[in-house]
Amino acid sequence: TRVAILVSGRGSNMVSVIEAAKAPDYPAEIVLVLSNRPDAGGLARAAAAGIPAKAIDHKQFATRESFDAALEAALREAGIELVCLAGFMRIFSAGFVEAWAGRMINIHPSLLPLFRGTHTHEQALEAGVRLHGCTVHYVVPELDAGPIIAQAAVPVLPGDDADSLADRVIVQEHRLYPKALALVASGQAPLKDGRVVFAAGQ
Ligand code: GRF
Repeated sequence: TRVAILVSGRGSNMVSVIEAAKAPDYPAEIVLVLSNRPDAGGLARAAAAGIPAKAIDHKQFATRESFDAALEAALREAGIELVCLAGFMRIFSAGFVEAWAGRMINIHPSLLPLFRGTHTHEQALEAGVRLHGCTVHYVVPELDAGPIIAQAAVPVLPGDDADSLADRVIVQEHRLYPKALALVASGQAPLKDGRVVFAAGQ
């Protein structure tokens, strides 16, 4: 399965997926990294790993649709079958999301459906939950609302602040995303009628 990873930032999740995909039996190949930000650290890290990496600067486009069309063209040109969002901080047009329905996944730093959007660690501390974590889900037009593929939980410990909690969650993100992508790429977690249908044993 030919995979593109989309990043806006440092790309630590991207690196974890690129590393995992080096295993000979891994069911996906990372063939492209795109960023909407030319200064994203993830672009340099991808290039250093030998993956073609390209910025498509959203500021150069007048509309969301024209930016999405440029993304679409780059994905098509590379023969991409599956898109992984990894800290990609742009909202897509509904048309783009629909075009990639069931073929685009995201990692979010909370146990969805709790704490959508940004500042999830602050949200978790504010809510007083004792368990927090991360979720890989299919992307649907509504933000952070798509069918859940995999989750990992961590404790919220006394004395935690948003940074200490984020540090605990990101370790799990780096384990979870490669596993979830492998499930999707090998057809073991397909979408059916808006829900994920797991193969036996998953
Ligand atoms: C991660 O916490 C991810 O879950 C969230 O943004 C952060 C990106 O970090 N969507 P990185 O760029 O993968 O290091």
